[in-house]
Amino acid sequence: MPIRPTAAYVDVGALQYNLGVARQLTSDRPGAAAMVLAAVKGDAYGHGAVRCARVLEAAGVDWFGVALVEEGAQLRDAGLTAPVLCLGGVGRYGAEEVVERGLVPVLYDEGDAERLDNAAGRRGVRQRVHLKVDTGMGRLGVALPHWGRFLDRLARFSNLDVEGFMTHFATADATAGSPGFAFTTEQGRRYRESLAKLRAHGYTPRLLHTCNSGGLVQHGALHLDMVRPGLLLYGVPPCEGTPPLKPVLRVTTQVLVARDLPARASVSYNRSFITSRPSRIATLPVGYADGYPRALGNVAQVLVGGRRCPVVGVVCMDLCMVDVTDVEEPVEAGDEVVLLGGQRDQRITVEEIAAWAGTIPYEILCGFSERIPRVGVALPTDVTKLRD
Ligand SMILES: Cc1ncc(COP(=O)(O)O)c(C=O)c1O
Repeated sequence: MPIRPTAAYVDVGALQYNLGVARQLTSDRPGAAAMVLAAVKGDAYGHGAVRCARVLEAAGVDWFGVALVEEGAQLRDAGLTAPVLCLGGVGRYGAEEVVERGLVPVLYDEGDAERLDNAAGRRGVRQRVHLKVDTGMGRLGVALPHWGRFLDRLARFSNLDVEGFMTHFATADATAGSPGFAFTTEQGRRYRESLAKLRAHGYTPRLLHTCNSGGLVQHGALHLDMVRPGLLLYGVPPCEGTPPLKPVLRVTTQVLVARDLPARASVSYNRSFITSRPSRIATLPVGYADGYPRALGNVAQVLVGGRRCPVVGVVCMDLCMVDVTDVEEPVEAGDEVVLLGGQRDQRITVEEIAAWAGTIPYEILCGFSERIPRVGVALPTDVTKLRD
C-alpha cells in the first residue's frame, strides 16, 4: 500500500478502445487491414510497458515496438509472446540477447548485421530482421546514397532473414497542404524507390511499414502491411482530423496542506508569485522529481473541487503550490487534486500541460517518474462520466 497519495491511473479500457480506433483507421485498405505494432517503448510512453503490453496483447495487437533490447527483454520476462521489434537496433552489445530472447531488431548497420549473423550462427538459428532506410528523418536507417552498397554486402550474412522493411517519417503529423505533409509524401516515394532496389537484390520482405500515429491518420496510401502507432494508442490525437480517442492516463494527488496567506505574501523560491489578495494556497506533494516540470510554475492549472486552479510560484523538486481561493468548498488537506485528466465536468489534457511547459505531449507522458505508482483501472469514475 503506497503511503504517498499521488498516483497515475492507467485506463486499460481506453487503451483497448484506442487500439480499436487504430484498427478502424486501416480497415479501408484494399485486402486485409494492416497489422498494428503498438509502440510501447519508453515504458509505454510512461503508462507502464508490461501492463499496457498485456492489455494490448489480450486485445489482439500484432506486434510490440520498443526502443531498447532491454525493453524487449522486459516484455519477454513478463511472459508476453507477441513479436517484439527493437526499433533502436541491436547496438554493439545486443546481438546475443536479441537471438536468445526471440526479439526482432531493426537493421541499418553492417557491423550490427555481422554481430547478429554470428550470434545466430553460433546457436544454429536464423534471425529475423527488419531493414530500415533513412528517407528523410536523418536519424536511424541506411542513408539513401548507401542503400545499394548496403544491400550488396548484406548477401554475405547467411543467418539473417529479411522479414520487414521500414522507414520513419519526420513530419507525418503536418496538416494536409503544408510543406511537412508534402515531405511525408516524398518520403513515401523514396521508400518505394528503395523497396524496388531491395526487391531487385532478391529480397521479398513480407512486412512493409512506415506509419507512426500521424501517418496512420493522414497517409492511408502508406499504411502498407503494418502501422506503428504510439501516441494515438495513449489517447492523444497526433494531428487534426484524428477520430475521437479516450485518454488513458489520469494523474492525481491530494492537498498536503492548505493555508490562508495575506495579500502581498510571496510563494515558493525566488518569490516569483506574490498574492494580490488574501489567498488560500494549497501545497501539493508533487514536484519536478515526479516529472511535473519546473516550467509549469505560474502557468499551469490543476483541478480542485471541480475548478481550474493556477499553479503559483515555481515548482519545487517535491512540492508545488496552487491558489485555491476561488474553489467554492473550503479546500483542506486530503482533498483530491487532478494534475492530468478529468474531475467533475473539467479536464486537463496532456496537450495543455505540454503547451504550458513549452514541450510536446510525448515528453510530459514519458516524464512522469517512477516515484509515481502506476495503477491499472478498468474505468475510473470521472473518466466514465466525461465520456457520456
Ligand atoms: C520508428 C518509430 N515508429 C513508430 C513510433 C511511434 O510514433 P508515434 O508515437 O508518433 O505514433 C516511433 C516513435 O517515436 C518510432 O520511433
